[in-house]
Amino acid sequence: MHLSLLAGLLALASSVSAQEDIQYDAIHNATAITGTWSTGSKQVLPGAGFANPAQQTFTYPNTTGVGIAFSPDGWYEVARYRFASNASEPNCIIGTVVWAHGHYELVSNGSIILRPNGDGYQQVQAPCAPTSNFIQNYNFTELFQSWRIFLDPTDGPKLHMFQFDGAPVAPMFQVSTEANMLPKQKLRNVTAQVVTTTKDGLITTETLGARKRKRSNGATSLVRPVGAVGGLVIIGALATLL
Ligand SMILES: *[C@@H]1O[C@H](CO)[C@@H](O)[C@H](O)[C@H]1NC(C)=O
Ligand SMILES: *[C@@H]1O[C@H](CO)[C@@H](O)[C@H](O)[C@H]1NC(C)=O
Ligand SMILES: *[C@@H]1O[C@H](CO)[C@@H](O)[C@H](O)[C@H]1NC(C)=O
Ligand SMILES: *[C@@H]1O[C@H](CO)[C@@H](O)[C@H](O)[C@H]1NC(C)=O
Ligand SMILES: *[C@@H]1O[C@H](CO)[C@@H](O)[C@H](O)[C@H]1NC(C)=O
Ligand SMILES: *[C@@H]1O[C@H](CO)[C@@H](O)[C@H](O)[C@H]1NC(C)=O
Repeated sequence: MHLSLLAGLLALASSVSAQEDIQYDAIHNATAITGTWSTGSKQVLPGAGFANPAQQTFTYPNTTGVGIAFSPDGWYEVARYRFASNASEPNCIIGTVVWAHGHYELVSNGSIILRPNGDGYQQVQAPCAPTSNFIQNYNFTELFQSWRIFLDPTDGPKLHMFQFDGAPVAPMFQVSTEANMLPKQKLRNVTAQVVTTTKDGLITTETLGARKRKRSNGATSLVRPVGAVGGLVIIGALATLL
């Protein structure tokens, strides 16, 4: 077996193995990472049609999933629509919808760092928590330990990303070689946040904009799409979602 391929497979199998400087060989460059990628049925996509940052709203896709776009000039945009069940309270299904954009860095050790622009936001629906449906700022820097692009015989380029702890993200397929994204600039005024401590000890932070809107008509309820069971992950702590 070709040595670099073997090394790649080993690194994939054991995500804690020592990293050498990244080489843009066949393992990464089945195609360039620039473009638009999405999981499963490819319905969750960054760009127009998912988030309206100025209004802090979302258009919920028909299926759950994750989409991400990388532009050649260093911007990324991520769209996530997920439901997760609480292992100890299986009926308490937590839904999250996330939109963020900013700058990405392909680190020479093979990691990807996503540094948000500060205007991202997320909706969290936790039916069993006292504050059950709210919108808050989402401004987390995310580290992906490694990534690979394979050529799937039927679906074409397939991007695998591994989280900071080596856990794989569902593979994403290339939807376009163009990066579909909203304008690469600040798209929302990030106003002061309201911090609420709920009686179950969860601390939520809401944006003022979202709170104002909620007073009048409430945050839109998330309805788990039919057939979304496949996208359901069991989580142990809310922190893994946020
Ligand atoms: C390989 O991937 C890197 C990173 O995405 C990119 O800069 C480079 O242009 C790619 N090379 C080819 C031949 O696609
Ligand atoms: C969901 O599916 C329906 C019917 O296929 C379609 O008309 C609608 O545009 C889709 N919605 C989204 C947000 O993709
Ligand atoms: C977002 O996070 C970055 C990095 O932690 C920080 O520099 C920036 O001030 C934050 N922006 C907002 C609006 O909170
Ligand atoms: C690569 O470098 C970044 C930035 O220094 C670091 O946070 C990350 O943990 C490193 N990744 C690996 C796989 O060592
Ligand atoms: C932010 O607020 C200021 C003052 O209210 C306004 O002039 C500006 O257009 C707003 N920016 C965005 C991105 O909405
Ligand atoms: C799951 O349910 C348990 C028991 O009600 C609770 O203590 C915990 O905070 C819940 N976790 C999440 C992520 O909601």
